[in-house]
Amino acid sequence: MRQIPLVVTGFGHVGRAFVSLLREKREDLERRYGLGFQVLAVARTEGCFYTGGPLDVRQVSRGGYVWTDGNPCWHKGLAVTEIIGRQDPGGGLVECTRSNLETGEPGLSYISAALAAGWHAVAASKGALVVGLPKLKAAAAENGTFLKFSGAAAAALPTLDVGIFSLAGTRIEGIQGILNGTSNFILTRMSEGLAYDEALKEAQDRGIAEADPVHDVGGWDSACKILLITNACLDTAYVLKDVHVTGITGLGPDFIRSAGREGRSVKLLATAAPGRQGGRWSLDVRPSLIEASHPLAHVNGTEKGITFLTDSMGSVTLTGGRSNPRGAAAALLKDLINIFRPPF
Ligand SMILES: NC(=O)c1ccc[n+]([C@@H]2O[C@H](COP(=O)([O-])OP(=O)(O)OC[C@H]3O[C@@H](n4cnc5c(N)ncnc54)[C@H](OP(=O)(O)O)[C@@H]3O)[C@@H](O)[C@H]2O)c1
Repeated sequence: MRQIPLVVTGFGHVGRAFVSLLREKREDLERRYGLGFQVLAVARTEGCFYTGGPLDVRQVSRGGYVWTDGNPCWHKGLAVTEIIGRQDPGGGLVECTRSNLETGEPGLSYISAALAAGWHAVAASKGALVVGLPKLKAAAAENGTFLKFSGAAAAALPTLDVGIFSLAGTRIEGIQGILNGTSNFILTRMSEGLAYDEALKEAQDRGIAEADPVHDVGGWDSACKILLITNACLDTAYVLKDVHVTGITGLGPDFIRSAGREGRSVKLLATAAPGRQGGRWSLDVRPSLIEASHPLAHVNGTEKGITFLTDSMGSVTLTGGRSNPRGAAAALLKDLINIFRPPF
């Protein structure tokens, strides 16, 4: 069986869900794919958990909490890039830090260090990819390594695998997506009669929206995702400034109810549409009225969905996929399996 060392950067909701999922799926991974993933280090803001050998999740958590004080595995100030730099090529970085959309850090440095060391990288965080995808792709090609980021591009909804692999050979002529579960939940509850503030509060009470929801309701999370999906599937190099973004804050209930009376629904739609005569694509995120016959019209609650318009396969739509840390962890694991499993 193939043993593969992993370094996990970020041990918040997604990093922890990933490590738990690895434990849960260990036997399955060995039996079905012949893969034995071993976590060598886990990085947090101020240091790393590291023993020089495989870590067990019980060595980094106690009673559901991350355990640092008095923990012999915890090395305050130890840089994860230093650990990666000491390894032989062929391991995997699992990037789950908080995303900085302006600098791409800390993910940008972590992914760059991994690729330079001949390691493959999978990411759930978006910052590094939004800021530096062309350079990272070039670095991966130069070092003969893979960079995959399903976890950052709608996670459990397999947008990139479909756009890149399943639609290979087609010409993608447009992309439309409901890519943010939090804003879709709020719009769904508003269509059922709640005011914006009431729907947002319910989302926060149920752990769907963060205390500071601006990233989701302001449309920025959807903007990052449509940007990454477009750049990955069309091999373009658009930047976040190219996306025109309008969020759902300030949407009145009357607008949503009157849409419902007309048999239409309001969705925060992220779109990529080609320019005229092969010109630049236009990337947009905005609350949009869609007809009941639209393939995404019935994507409700925290669900997400995406439609690809193609020349030779017609319109292809996917909906569903968990919008939570376990779904993101599963997307990271899927990318790792597809990097490391034997070809078939
Ligand atoms: N939550 C989801 O459902 C979801 C879904 C898809 C994608 N994502 C993306 O996945 C990433 C992680 O999300 P999350 O919900 O797990 O966030 P989170 O709970 O806030 O955890 C972020 C982690 O990043 C660590 N971190 C911050 N700066 C660091 C640095 N310089 N070096 C090492 N670690 C550092 C934090 O360390 P400390 O522990 O020291 O604070 C924390 O453990 C985000 O970029 C998010 O956008 C999340």
